[in-house]
Amino acid sequence: MTKDKFLIKGLAGEKKLNGKIVVGGAKNAILPVMSSAVLFSDEVKFENVPDIEDVKRMSELLEKLGAKTKKVSKHSWKIDAKKIKSSELDYEISKRLRAAVILIGPRLARYGSVDFPHPGGCVIGARPIDIFLEAFKKMGAKVAVEEKKYHIEVAKGKKLKGAEIFFKIQSVTATETVMMAGVLAEGKTVIRNAAIEPEIVSLAEYLVSCGAKITGAGTLTIEIIGGELLKSEGRIYKTIPDRIEAGSFLILGALCANNLEIKNCRPNDLNILIESLKDSGVPIEVGNDFIKIKKNKSVQNSSFKSFNVKTHEYPGFPTDLQAPISIFLTQATGESIIFETIFENRLNYIQDVIKMGANVKIWDTHRMMITGPTALKGKELDGPDIRAGLAYIIASLVADGESVINNIYYIDRGYESIENRLRTIGADIKRIKE
Ligand code: EPU
Repeated sequence: MTKDKFLIKGLAGEKKLNGKIVVGGAKNAILPVMSSAVLFSDEVKFENVPDIEDVKRMSELLEKLGAKTKKVSKHSWKIDAKKIKSSELDYEISKRLRAAVILIGPRLARYGSVDFPHPGGCVIGARPIDIFLEAFKKMGAKVAVEEKKYHIEVAKGKKLKGAEIFFKIQSVTATETVMMAGVLAEGKTVIRNAAIEPEIVSLAEYLVSCGAKITGAGTLTIEIIGGELLKSEGRIYKTIPDRIEAGSFLILGALCANNLEIKNCRPNDLNILIESLKDSGVPIEVGNDFIKIKKNKSVQNSSFKSFNVKTHEYPGFPTDLQAPISIFLTQATGESIIFETIFENRLNYIQDVIKMGANVKIWDTHRMMITGPTALKGKELDGPDIRAGLAYIIASLVADGESVINNIYYIDRGYESIENRLRTIGADIKRIKE
């Protein structure tokens, strides 16, 4: 794990960034698609894959199961999962990468068993897997909880069975893994109260293009008719643009850029953020695949209006943009209430933002009130998770003076060469190698 740091010179509230920035492929789209390789009888190919740590971890996880993975070029990969042998998801990687849970469904559906530790990932909350386990039990599997791992299996010679599954909570990765399990199960699987994030729709469309029978992805009810192994026959999955990265660039632009074009994104995936920022006074223009901030210098940050944020499943306000938008709200005028409804520890990062000068009252682990505007001062910060790490970059760029962000492995997990990309729009950010 790298111990590199970022050194950032703040702009003291001035809007000096300018230019164009291109959004990369979505981490949370490619990780499930990589897992889906296990459902195929042939090699699969992916493009527009972000060059990030989590993709490397997922490929290592697949390799440890016995798949062959190859990074063909910086943004393209191929995976051949025909010869998977091990049933055990690597302990160390699964403890660090929550997305490892997505592999459970495909591995179980294809080979009848899977072993894995309680998944880790990050500090944002307890992140239980109860609804995964319930779903696989409904599909006829037995779940054993052993000292250090879970063991799930289907009786010898049997397949997973299609079932009616109601998720008591909408869960992105549970929807993905159970949907993939349904692809190789016997008969029909129905998932009710499914999550409807764009990444799920993208995964379903890809699987359908390769022979899966899935309908309803992107709605609350998904139906899957199980069948044979899928065949890619040379089809290439092109990773959809990362809506969280695009949203973070938009927030950064609102605070620090005069003119900024965010290219290669899907503005429709970000309506809630775009509408909130427009209402607050950010001059935004939206095209089919770009978002522009124009003549933003003419608006003082202090004339942005405060607003409340309640995180919600898609299409509501994404929890993954809660930390970046909170930085925006430290610069807007008035009181903003932030209600993080998805994860219980996802406000912890704010302590460091308070150290930088933000005026924040923390009510409980889910709610806080930000009063703005307040000038921020550069500080030494410890990146706690992927998304809060990017929020620290935004805060450091808004601030007066220099900031150091430690622990940037967390930022590298989700954002490709972020410092080089931000430098092209004028940010003063350097990586200090340890
Ligand atoms: N939950 C349960 N039981 C379960 C599963 C989930 O109680 O069995 C709860 C969670 O604790 C949470 C809520 O359900 O309170 C929703 O979590 P969800 O399962 O949807 O989250 P996830 O699938 O683990 C994905 C993204 C996260 C993103 C969330 C919410 C991936 C690989 N991860 O996680 O992304 O925050 O959905 O949108 O798709 C990130 O990229 O930094 C990140 C954390």
